[in-house]
Amino acid sequence: MTDAPFTLVAIDGGAASGKSSTSRALSERFNLLHVDTGSFYRTLTAELLRAGVQADDPVGIAQASAEVRLETALEGRRALMKINGRIVPDAEIRTSAVNANVSHFAAVPALRDALLAYQRGQVEVARAHHFPGLIMEGRDIGSVIFPDADFRFFLHADPAERARRRAAEGQEDSIAERDRLDRSRKTAPLACPDGATDIDSTHLDLDQVVALLSAHLATRLPPAS
Ligand code: DC
Repeated sequence: MTDAPFTLVAIDGGAASGKSSTSRALSERFNLLHVDTGSFYRTLTAELLRAGVQADDPVGIAQASAEVRLETALEGRRALMKINGRIVPDAEIRTSAVNANVSHFAAVPALRDALLAYQRGQVEVARAHHFPGLIMEGRDIGSVIFPDADFRFFLHADPAERARRRAAEGQEDSIAERDRLDRSRKTAPLACPDGATDIDSTHLDLDQVVALLSAHLATRLPPAS
């Protein structure tokens, strides 16, 4: 561990709010490790479903999530979860079965606990690979994982616009239902944390959102060379 300055950026928001594209672009622009925690919840869900664990079995979910071995691999500036030694490919974590189940699994406190230290540990991963900071996206990053992050953003967009974006990606995803479950769960619900910068991207394209957030980050970070 070094004392080199390190910048933490948290981006939260609902399904298809533009978090991933924005985080990816900012990670390239400012040389930050990109950590998509939604992909972690998806990976765990896909693995547990594969092992026959059901969404309505919180005890089974708790047991199975306490037993997995989690490591991190890097692909460019992106952190990929390895679960029991395997990277589960995007094609397996973005299926309609995972879309339909992930919010139920993510509502189980023991599963969230199993991911807590792993998510915070991404700072060490970023430092070990000499990144000057990391950008982490999810639902509870600015509220629970890194409430003291240097920058905390919350992205939202009109539900119709988000459904249009997801359909344009060719994905079958019940965005409104996932948001309802993510907002209403007891542990770490989706909400704009106090003090975070709230951005409505309904009428903004990706470049405009990236420019807006870049203006904030540029007060502290030089662009990647
Ligand atoms: O970002 P995404 O749509 O890929 O996330 C998939 C699901 O994972 C989301 O519906 C809720 C859950 N999730 C969560 O509960 N907390 C996070 N920090 C990230 C995702």
